[in-house]
Amino acid sequence: MCGIVGYVGREQATPIIMEGLRRLEYRGYDSAGIAVINGSAVHAVREVGKLKALRARLEKEAPRGTTGIGHTRWATHGVPSVANAHPHHDCTRSFMLVHNGIIENYAEIKDELLHKGHVFVSETDTEVVAHLIEAFYSGDLLEAMLSSMRQLRGAYALAVISSHEPDTIVAARCGSPLVLGFGDDFNLVASDASAVLSHTRRVVYLDDHQAARLRPNESAISDLGGNRLEPKIKEISLNLSDIEKGGHPHFMIKEIFEQPSLVSDVLARRISPATDEIRFSETRDAELGLETVKKIMIVSCGTAYHASMVGKYYLENLARVPVEVDIASEFRYRNPVVNEETLVIAISQSGETADTLAGVKEAHGRGSRVLSVINVEGSSIDRESDATLYVYAGPEIAVASTKAYTAQLLSLALFSLYLARKRGTIEPETYDEMIGELRSIPAKMQWILDNHETVRTCARKFSNAPNFLYLGRSYNYPNALEGALKLKELSYIHAEGCSAGEMKHGPIALVDSTFPVICLVPDGKVYEKMLSNIQELRARRAVIIAVATEGNEDIARHCEHVIHVPRVHELLSPLLTVIPLQLLAYHITINKGLDVDQPRNLAKSVTVE
Ligand code: AGP
Repeated sequence: MCGIVGYVGREQATPIIMEGLRRLEYRGYDSAGIAVINGSAVHAVREVGKLKALRARLEKEAPRGTTGIGHTRWATHGVPSVANAHPHHDCTRSFMLVHNGIIENYAEIKDELLHKGHVFVSETDTEVVAHLIEAFYSGDLLEAMLSSMRQLRGAYALAVISSHEPDTIVAARCGSPLVLGFGDDFNLVASDASAVLSHTRRVVYLDDHQAARLRPNESAISDLGGNRLEPKIKEISLNLSDIEKGGHPHFMIKEIFEQPSLVSDVLARRISPATDEIRFSETRDAELGLETVKKIMIVSCGTAYHASMVGKYYLENLARVPVEVDIASEFRYRNPVVNEETLVIAISQSGETADTLAGVKEAHGRGSRVLSVINVEGSSIDRESDATLYVYAGPEIAVASTKAYTAQLLSLALFSLYLARKRGTIEPETYDEMIGELRSIPAKMQWILDNHETVRTCARKFSNAPNFLYLGRSYNYPNALEGALKLKELSYIHAEGCSAGEMKHGPIALVDSTFPVICLVPDGKVYEKMLSNIQELRARRAVIIAVATEGNEDIARHCEHVIHVPRVHELLSPLLTVIPLQLLAYHITINKGLDVDQPRNLAKSVTVE
């Protein structure tokens, strides 16, 4: 996934583009570049590495001009190199283009253009679009873009400038996000709203197969047929402070510490203080047939998939609806048995994950209705779904998802209680108990954050362990997977999550004294089972780090380290037991001197397959 920014107006473009790219760096950071029009020439500067490398170059040679585009890359086709960095140009170097996505038919287009004498200088799929626009251009940049779009297959968000039309940017979208920002005497284009927010709150989210022409005082949006469309202007509600680090050293720790307040905010928004009724105005219950739905299929990726697994427990235990959960990249290709009687739920923080978006389209193609559980309003999955349940976690910038995960768990718990009440599958006293337990979560989360010295001790002691094992059962089995994902994606230490009940079927062969084993063992129905697993591990000299309920002194007899979390209803325990796992991954990564907000090889949202 990459980040795109474009500016056309009266100010110098370079600083505005660079500030926008800084806000988009979480989307990809193996190379970056900028191109600005200065009179009849287009000046491009590209650099390998993070944005700071490009910034250093620009201190010596900042392009002058008031029309420009920029790009921060996460490589899909072609290794990270200056030659493969965007912007890419045509043979005449009069068209400069940036792209987020994958052009699936780029090879055949490239062959045709090579036969026509075009000369390519990169290994990327993107470069073919610059040459297509050159081939189609006959005095109208927007028309040349539309003609090119008709040739392209795949996902793209594009922005192009040209020395033939020095005060113009043309942008286009199909499958990758693109937002237009409207100012008084300037216009912007970017991959998401955070890059335009410091200049304007008036935005339009382009839809698939749409293109836009931007000039300082005018904008035109058209469909693939060249028909003019009325812009659907929205006002962004985001605040800049939401995006900055708020005094924390890293976005990840800021977002971990935001969890108590976000849970409080969501509870206040979702539960009526007067009646304790749960409110989901946006789920369009009748259209989705929520009261009579016979089966739910949840599709998602990564951390969202772990939340989906917890969601299965919630929906089945509370609303008594059969639930299947599947990884989106499997769901979309396995000829799934879903139809008009199946409600498909798509869970995604970014709302841009290509496989999850494809899963939504697959579900629609088979007659299912889709409810998405999303954090980013206006995202592709949001707009593709029949209804959307927003988790209101606020912008999540760190690549490793933390607050979005707990926000997803919270939303799934609330939605399950809401559905259970609609379907009459929950006793009033149980409902009331759960509402009370939910309201206790923010303070209990804060307690964990205020008392995490044991986590720091474990991080210091085990930062150099070669492997970790995470074990859990029932509601906490998905958290074992999530804790392992957090550690491996940040610290690059091999970590495996496993159902504790599965240990005897193979994984226990791994265990010896070099293996820290994190055991999620809060009070609840499976506590004794977990204790047996811990004793089996101890017999094999494993080093156990337990996450257990505050006040449980017995557990210390079996484990070297005990991280306590406050007592809560077992069903809600994942909202608490995940926090020490997030903190452990964070502190181990910091101890290893690694980049905790931008781990290698990863992007915040995987908008390509
Ligand atoms: C989470 O820490 C990872 N960065 C990754 O697994 C992520 O959860 C996954 O790519 C799904 O993203 P989404 O929620 O935006 O769809």
